Formats: sequence, C-alpha cells, structure tokens
Amino acid sequence: MSYKEYPKVELHLHLEGGAPPAFIRQLAHEKKTDLSRIFREDGSYEYRDFDHFLTVYEAACSVLQTPEDFRRLVLAVMEQSAENGVVYSETFLSPDFCGGGDLSAWREYLHAMQEAADEAERKMGVTLRGIITCIRHFGPEKAKPIALCAAETMGDFITGFGMAGAEMVGRPGDYSYAFDMAREAGLRLTCHAGEWGGPDMVADTLRDLAPERIGHGVNAIHDLALVDRIAEDGIVLEVCPGSNVFLGATGDWPEHPIRMLRERGVKVTVSTDDPPYFGTTMTREFEGLARAFDWTEDDFAELNRTALDAAFCDDATKDKIAKLLEAT
Ligand code: HPA
Ligand code: ZN
Repeated sequence: MSYKEYPKVELHLHLEGGAPPAFIRQLAHEKKTDLSRIFREDGSYEYRDFDHFLTVYEAACSVLQTPEDFRRLVLAVMEQSAENGVVYSETFLSPDFCGGGDLSAWREYLHAMQEAADEAERKMGVTLRGIITCIRHFGPEKAKPIALCAAETMGDFITGFGMAGAEMVGRPGDYSYAFDMAREAGLRLTCHAGEWGGPDMVADTLRDLAPERIGHGVNAIHDLALVDRIAEDGIVLEVCPGSNVFLGATGDWPEHPIRMLRERGVKVTVSTDDPPYFGTTMTREFEGLARAFDWTEDDFAELNRTALDAAFCDDATKDKIAKLLEAT
C-alpha cells in the first residue's frame, strides 16, 4: 500500500534542509547570485559527503536573507510535508542564518515564520513548532547568543533547543553553557549525537547536556549496555533512516539499527532530516521501513504515538493531533 495519505508526526526536520532546490534556485535568481555550483544538471543539490553537504547547505542558506524569504521558505517546506501526510512537524530553526544570532533581528524573522506557520495550519492542515538549534561547528561561543534567542522567544511556537552541525567538532560538554541557559528558561532539549560519533558521543551528550531526545543516536547500537540505559531512561531517538542510508552513516535499509533499537525497548521515531538533500520524504521513510522490516500500520501507529508523546508542544496541541491520528 502507499503510505502517502497516512497521517504522520515528524520530530526532526531542518527547516533550511527542507528547501526544495527549485525554491533556492528561484531565490538565487531573484538576488542575482550564482549558485550553479551547488546544483546538478537535473536540478538536485550536489555534494560529495557529509562535510561537503554542510558547505552546500550553508551556500544555499546564503540566499535566504530576509524575514520574507523565511516566510516563503516555511510555506514551501510545509507544502512538501503536508503532501506527504505530515500533520505535526517539529522543525529546527537556526538564528545563525536569520541575522547571525542577533536577538532583535531574530524576533523579526521569527514573526514572519510564525505567520507562515499559521497560514500552513489553516490552508494545509499541518501544525508546525520550532526548535532553535545552535550549530556545533560554529563553536561554543556562538552557541550562547543562540541559546539566548531561544530563551527570550520561547512560547507556544518555540518549544525547544538543540544542536545540529558537524558532530565530530568538539565534545558535548563544550556546549553545556548554552544548554544550561535553555534548560533554565524552561525549554525542552534535544541534541544530534551518534550519527557520526560512536556510543561514547551519545553517552557524553546524555551526561553533559541531559537532553530528553537525541537526534539520530543510531550508533548507540554498538554498545548494548548503553542501548539498555537509553531504553530504561525513556530517552527518545529521532531516527532518520533515509538520511543515514543516503549518507552512509549506517548500512542499507535491511541492516538499519532502528529495528534492533526498537526491539530492545528504545523509544524510536522516524523523520526525514533534510528531505530534498537525501532524496527522501516521510512517505518514502514509511515505505522503506515497510519494505525492509515488514512493518505495518500497527507499527506506524505506534511510531506516531511515540513521536506525539515526545513532542515538545503543549497538551492542547497534542490532544488535537491525537484526534487526527485516531481518525485513521
Ligand atoms: N545533520 C547535522 N546538522 C545539520 C543537518 C544534518 O542533517 N542538516 C542541517 N544541519
Ligand atoms: Zn539532523
């Protein structure tokens, strides 16, 4: 069967990473910027490996320059999500790309994105919430003003704080000041770890930054005692199988650790990460899992419930989304 229409809850999507290449090409055209080097002839994004992906990603972000650009971006990304049955999306937002982490600039960008989120909810039926992320390879000092942006704008829309970027730069504890500031402000926490780093990176992230969710976390599979601890502590993994397979962070679909993690009692969820960069959609994620592991609607219903339980939004929003899921 096709899972396109099946309702889905997604917790791990980088807003700029969801930008359709045609959208970025159009902005580049409007701003008379030559970005041809980051596109293949067929129009898709071109890069060699994960580090080069981050470079291409930042080049694509260079044409996102105003609050209006981000308003359009939110609508373009949510259109893709809604088309793939997503009813609730938690999306990583990076003030570094919205005025360089300046708080008053960030407020203007955020206002535009929130307006677009309201429009997407009204017109497309997808509810969006934001998680502010600092960027690891920009260093711990740059993470502090980003945490301040998060602390100062938390509310119904901005619900969490996290860290993306190059996982092998520095150690988790280098970023504890930013995470402590966000935690003290009352934000919920998630952090990328265990996509490229080993189980030690996941363990250090849990010890030093104490997030309740981990972005990816799949390399925990190489230390079963750690897997059992993650399961016992109820840490939720935002697993992105299509991204892992595409980038070679794990083996192919049939060997992907999500199955074993789930079977050992870990709370796993499924997301796309940066869908047009990795040739995926939420439909393709569900279909890949169905093919690789014979997962059925019962399995996907459980993944959705786990994701909604682990979502950072308020209870009224969760109740509304739960009703949409129950209707299937
Ligand atoms: N991983 C880490 N950092 C990122 C990503 C990603 O997939 N996308 C944007 N920043
Ligand atoms: Zn990610």
